[in-house]
Amino acid sequence: MLHGKRLLLIIGGGIAAYKALDLIRRLRERGAQVVPVLTRAGAEFVTPMSVAALSGHKVHRELFDLTDEAEMGHIQLSRSADLVVVAPATADLMAKMAQGRADDLASTLLLATDTPVLVAPAMNMRMWDHPATRRNLAVLQQDGIRFVGPDEGSMACGEFGPGRLAEPLAIVAAIEAALADGPLKGRHIIVTSGPTHEPIDPVRYIANRSSGAQGSAIGRALAALGADVTFITGPADVAAPEGTRVIRVETARQMLDAVQSALPADAAVFAAAVADWRTADATDHKIKKNGTLPVLSLIENPDILATVSKGADRPALVVGFAAETDDVIAHATAKRLRKGCDWIVANDVSPATGIMGGTENEVTVIRPDGAEVWPRMTKDMVASRLARSIADTLAGEP
Ligand code: CTP
Repeated sequence: MLHGKRLLLIIGGGIAAYKALDLIRRLRERGAQVVPVLTRAGAEFVTPMSVAALSGHKVHRELFDLTDEAEMGHIQLSRSADLVVVAPATADLMAKMAQGRADDLASTLLLATDTPVLVAPAMNMRMWDHPATRRNLAVLQQDGIRFVGPDEGSMACGEFGPGRLAEPLAIVAAIEAALADGPLKGRHIIVTSGPTHEPIDPVRYIANRSSGAQGSAIGRALAALGADVTFITGPADVAAPEGTRVIRVETARQMLDAVQSALPADAAVFAAAVADWRTADATDHKIKKNGTLPVLSLIENPDILATVSKGADRPALVVGFAAETDDVIAHATAKRLRKGCDWIVANDVSPATGIMGGTENEVTVIRPDGAEVWPRMTKDMVASRLARSIADTLAGEP
């Protein structure tokens, strides 16, 4: 899959830099050529000698290296790859990228490159959660930079949370997705996934049982066909798909905002189980037991699928889902017309089916020309078949 691909790998500072060595090995096993760039901080954690030995390549380190400039200028270096991969990317490197600074070799290459960039962040969880890093992440995502990870888990600093470098095989999968040369190459597709959480007070919320498994599988299947996927997810149980631009939200209103900012798109798949209602008056303090039962008054959330289907920036193909517990096809057929989407993927989410939260799905795809019943299969297989169908349909579009 990676045969003949040339990757420029920028290794930033941080204890996770040791995983970059394993990453290089796994990329080379798959036939990729890895041209390494080691930042000054990165060289504090792994030696240039090990990077050179594993990559079989000269390690680029300094911006003003006369030999390098004579052999290959930094501009040429930045553009000679099929993909630039930054792993691990520190908070500092992300900040430099977001600001467009070019004060060392790594940041200069990232500013000068005209090839796609994939970033695998690794940092302490407080640094990852810091508003400054969140801002930088949002800017970089808007700039079209792809991200993989970070994962959640225990960290070298003894804390637990998000910030761990994605595992080397997950980074490999993200690289493969970024380089995928399939029928959806050049197509931008928005996918919503997971549940939404609607706050009642700072500690309680209204939610539903969606795990996000079907949405993640769809994001992954579309990326594998080469699509440029913006994956907008509520707080899901399963990991977001590698190689997609991931935007995390909590509420239905945030999901709608994120979808609208991600438009235009060639297609959109609304797999999220959006909460239909939110509390009319979420409080900013915890509701206490004081002898009387609290009354929750609910108001309706915006319908994201219907808003986008009927909006000015409507993608050429809009796919909705219908989670039903009875009269599945009749309800879903009516829902397709009511919401104004092109297809509805209907499924029976009665507890007896084991679909919600499970690994399998049994769907009926409702299109303008009728309903197609698909046999029960894994959510990954539903996703691949749906992605292929989307590719076939978009192939007929300009
Ligand atoms: N949907 C949405 N925004 C909402 C509610 C639903 O975008 N506020 C989308 C879902 O992502 C899905 C489709 O609409 O693609 C149908 O969701 P579903 O929960 O089955 O339908 P509802 O609109 O909630 O209708 P009902 O509860 O009456 O079945």
